[in-house]
Amino acid sequence: MNDKVMVRIDGEVIAATAGQSVLQVARANGKYIPALCYMEGLSPQGSCRLCMIEIQGVKKLQPACTTPVSEGLSVTTHTAQLAGYRKMALELLFAERNHICAVCVSSGHCELQSLAQEHGMTNTRFDYSYPSYTPDTSHPRYVFDPNRCVLCARCVRTCAEIEGAHVWDIAGRGVASGPVSEMQRPWGEAESCTSCGKCVQACPTGALAEKGWAVEEMTKQKGVVSTLDTMRRGQ
Ligand code: FES
Repeated sequence: MNDKVMVRIDGEVIAATAGQSVLQVARANGKYIPALCYMEGLSPQGSCRLCMIEIQGVKKLQPACTTPVSEGLSVTTHTAQLAGYRKMALELLFAERNHICAVCVSSGHCELQSLAQEHGMTNTRFDYSYPSYTPDTSHPRYVFDPNRCVLCARCVRTCAEIEGAHVWDIAGRGVASGPVSEMQRPWGEAESCTSCGKCVQACPTGALAEKGWAVEEMTKQKGVVSTLDTMRRGQ
């Protein structure tokens, strides 16, 4: 489908391709919308709600990553109200798990931390849940710490859609849900895991990390997923 449509983003008229999301069109035209669960090269999930936008004529806010463009669509991506909602979503994420940046291997190159700084989040208005999760250190090369997970499922989608192994899935409900490897087997015993490490690169926080790596080493190659997706489609 290559139908061209004209949309308006923050007042600017932009030519887009039907089927693209508002977030894709905005990014392609140099417009920034915060996002956490979205990752280029993966199917959108729309769960973090950081990319919420206002659509003219629509009462509810909508996620830019799962809203397809259509002829005449007019959206606003930055208002004081949206900034407030995004900040609240970040506060809730911090309150939900144990995001202790000072002792995290991803500190300084964590997407959650960067988004919090960007939104001026210095504290959270919500009570911390302080859940008690045991990190899975069974894999010889990688470690999974659910305490640092934001439930974006980028690992799940990367493993299924890019690597084709589908080691990861989401189990449980609500705040108690989270990634599990191979039907809740320890990761190190998951026979379908190819140890490719793509899930680690896709993880926005320190939830998935290389074992034994220092903070300065644990920078992630965020472009690896989109590069592989582009190569696979022969573009
Ligand atoms: Fe759109 Fe997460 S990036 S909901």
